[in-house]
Amino acid sequence: MLEVHGLSKRFPGVQALDRVDFDVDAGEVVGLIGENGAGKSTLIKVLAGVHRADEGQVLLNGEPVGIHTPQDSFSLGISVIFQELNLVGNLSVAENIFLGRELRSPGVLRSFLDFGRTTQRAQQLMQQAGLNCDPRLAVEELSLSHKQMVEVAKALSINSKIIIMDEPTSTLTGQETELLFQIIERLKSSGVAVVFVSHKLDEVFRICDRLHVLRDGRHVGALQTARTSRDELIRLMVGRDLGTLFVKQEAQISDTVLEVRDLGSPKGIEHVSFDLHRGEILGFAGLVGSGRTEVMRALFGIDKRTSGEILIDGRPVSIHSPSDAIAHGIGFVPEDRQVQGLVLGMDVRQNVTLASLQAVSERGFLIDAREQGVTGSFIEKLSIRTPSQEQIVVNLSGGNQQKVVVSKWLATNPRILILDEPTRGIDVGAKKEIHRLMSQLACQNVAIIMISSELSEILAMSDRIVVMHEGRKKGELDRAQASQEKIMEIALRQTDQGVA
Ligand SMILES: Nc1ncnc2c1ncn2[C@@H]1O[C@H](COP(=O)(O)OP(=O)(O)OP(=O)(O)O)[C@@H](O)[C@H]1O
Ligand SMILES: [Mg+2]
Repeated sequence: MLEVHGLSKRFPGVQALDRVDFDVDAGEVVGLIGENGAGKSTLIKVLAGVHRADEGQVLLNGEPVGIHTPQDSFSLGISVIFQELNLVGNLSVAENIFLGRELRSPGVLRSFLDFGRTTQRAQQLMQQAGLNCDPRLAVEELSLSHKQMVEVAKALSINSKIIIMDEPTSTLTGQETELLFQIIERLKSSGVAVVFVSHKLDEVFRICDRLHVLRDGRHVGALQTARTSRDELIRLMVGRDLGTLFVKQEAQISDTVLEVRDLGSPKGIEHVSFDLHRGEILGFAGLVGSGRTEVMRALFGIDKRTSGEILIDGRPVSIHSPSDAIAHGIGFVPEDRQVQGLVLGMDVRQNVTLASLQAVSERGFLIDAREQGVTGSFIEKLSIRTPSQEQIVVNLSGGNQQKVVVSKWLATNPRILILDEPTRGIDVGAKKEIHRLMSQLACQNVAIIMISSELSEILAMSDRIVVMHEGRKKGELDRAQASQEKIMEIALRQTDQGVA
């Protein structure tokens, strides 16, 4: 149905696509797979009319087509869910779904939006997408995962022939992912062609019929999912064997560095208490929306606290803003990098050193060589794909932006490091590197809190696990006792009995 031949796209300093071929058929789900910076989103943006290719051809049902603007792409029946969501924060859910295609009032009132009909139609689409919220809510009020579902509803509203989804599940809960997969199955059986991008290989193997693999902007293989293995896919993607999964080093766990007592916040957090030790990795598990991020925001001084006490090294401290928290040696890698983690208009070096200006200055002056040294070492350690340290961060691929956020907080040399979904959107190789780095930091006595929705990551990395549900701590597990089943059992337990 859709074929791409010899597509190339160059950005200053980067050959993002190099004579790429690609195809997807009606009623088929095709995975577009590759490391961070391989060119997946660029290919998608060419098909969406956001970028213009330097060379190459796009065919639809055998006929060459020109896609020069988003409007062209739209009229050809292509709809795209972008990796960095494309919603207007201060408009309502319903307005976002129908943006540019507003439903008008009948007759002489035609110049007015038909709010009733828009809201009603939006409600139907949201139900199809499994989203339960008021369509009149402003999008900025929604969680990341709900924003993602609004994008899905929007794509469904168009009745497209081809739906392209760039990492749609990176912010979804397990349950929401299941729903999305049901939607994809339905689209597939009604003859829609679906392109699916994800770094979660389990998902890729479950939902995709065929895979196209990109490496460094080149198409390196097309595979039938049923006739390939995870290892073969990784080898093709990375260009070498990755070996076994990362095995956590045993760090020396010593004194208590942080005590949180009876924490409460206006965002629904109640009576949360826990300790954290030097050298320890404390995992925070729970469903999305269980309050894990909100606990960290209250701890880091972003949100007000309504109750509770924070002790560092046994002494009560007053943290009322992120700068108080940083002064006490706390670092925070937030989950929503575009809002809280990065200054998109600044370059890689400025972002990496942003939270550690003191370390790279002397008597108030920035020392270039130090900034360059620090930045260079992170670019190397985390293999950040960028043509230079001066590249503006908005031009990096999604996963590479995430690596810059992680670097920024690692550069502060924190004593306590909070990581909220640190490997979201990160490819398999870089994920292993981030795990290795976390483990190394723990061995250097740093105390780490890691929120993750991936239970396998929680189990692999945590010495202890706090399980949250609806703003409360439901229980705690030791590494030795923990299993997926136990975590789920605690997370879903109805009563408060057994709270550790
Ligand atoms: N607007 C831009 N200006 C300059 N370079 C860009 C721009 N957009 C992308 N690039 C570069 O093109 C390359 C491919 O990026 P792309 O976003 O397509 O990667 P990706 O495969 O989607 O990665 P990820 O898995 O991290 O999302 C990267 O090196 C990126 O830095
Ligand atoms: Mg991308």
